[in-house]
Amino acid sequence: MENVKIVGCGYAKAQVRVWNEDLEKIVETSDAWIQQRTGIQSRYITKDENTSDLAYRAAVDALKDANMEAKEIELILVASATPDHFTPATSCLVQEKLGLNGEECTALDINAACSGFVYGLTLASCLLEKYKTILVIGAETLSKIVDWTDRNTCILFGDGAGACIVQQSTNKKMFTYTKSTGDVEGVLKGAGLPIKAGLINGEKNYGYLHMDGKEVFRFALKAMQESIEKVCEQAQILPKDIDLIIPHQANIRIIRHVAKKMQLDEDKFFVNLEEFGNTSSASIAIALACAKEQGKLKPGMKIVLAGFGAGFTSGGVYLEW
Ligand SMILES: CC(C)(COP(=O)(O)OP(=O)(O)OC[C@H]1O[C@@H](n2cnc3c(N)ncnc32)[C@H](O)[C@@H]1OP(=O)(O)O)[C@@H](O)C(=O)NCCC(=O)NCCS
Repeated sequence: MENVKIVGCGYAKAQVRVWNEDLEKIVETSDAWIQQRTGIQSRYITKDENTSDLAYRAAVDALKDANMEAKEIELILVASATPDHFTPATSCLVQEKLGLNGEECTALDINAACSGFVYGLTLASCLLEKYKTILVIGAETLSKIVDWTDRNTCILFGDGAGACIVQQSTNKKMFTYTKSTGDVEGVLKGAGLPIKAGLINGEKNYGYLHMDGKEVFRFALKAMQESIEKVCEQAQILPKDIDLIIPHQANIRIIRHVAKKMQLDEDKFFVNLEEFGNTSSASIAIALACAKEQGKLKPGMKIVLAGFGAGFTSGGVYLEW
């Protein structure tokens, strides 16, 4: 469905702000290196909240922004690569926390890594014929799967959640684009359980996040540009006509490369990765809510969200504010 509007958005920060200087104490790195190579200065890490707790807080914030009661939500979509459990789904836990048990509400999880929120909005736009009000959340506790002895990855990621509420619209359009390609080489992969139980081969390590940074960087440049162009085609506008781009907050150098390649003003890109780091599925959702909080979203603006991540997955959303 194309006639879709966002009626509220919100976010939740994890409890502890961890600065680059704090990481200097645990791995061989420096604040200067991290800032220069990534643009990140800090990230928020959870102390005792799990993904569903952050997701719930973001949902409450979005409901407040929409001036809406939880009971109006008919579907909850949670995008996460770090759910509380394999099962039950994090969305079901959020449903319970929102007090929606027994109500006419359905809950479903999505895993598209850092593209998760874009995939969530895409699914929501397809499902609005059936569900009138959909809560889309991106939520992560990546600190659970980050190897805190690996300086190549641990400096990049943070925890957090962002949420938005979507409904059908009479005058606003939303266009979406998604793409997935099997990453059989394992260029970017999270923790997994071994196929053979420890009983057979003694394997116990569930594994941590693993990443080939340079390969991911190359993929990200192409994926972000492609996602922006694909949704612009659908909206019948040129990328230069977009008022604000909210990209996945992975690395400022990725954003700058894309801006330069597409000949777009860097100011068109909303950036908050210096504060939050890369929060995967939550990144674009948090950025959207922060942009709103900072008064950067004005009625009638043409906004494009662009994500990429493990899978590989990528995608974009064009929306009108
Ligand atoms: C990870 C990333 C920041 C690394 O930056 P880079 O410029 O490619 O750096 P390199 O990997 O070439 O490393 C350069 C040197 O810095 C070192 N280095 C790596 N991490 C470091 C750190 N945290 N602190 C200090 N030095 C570090 C490397 O070991 C290497 O040293 P060497 O030259 O002696 O071998 C960058 O590749 C990146 O952002 N990739 C995309 C990652 C991403 O977005 N992932 C999520 C996708 S959803």
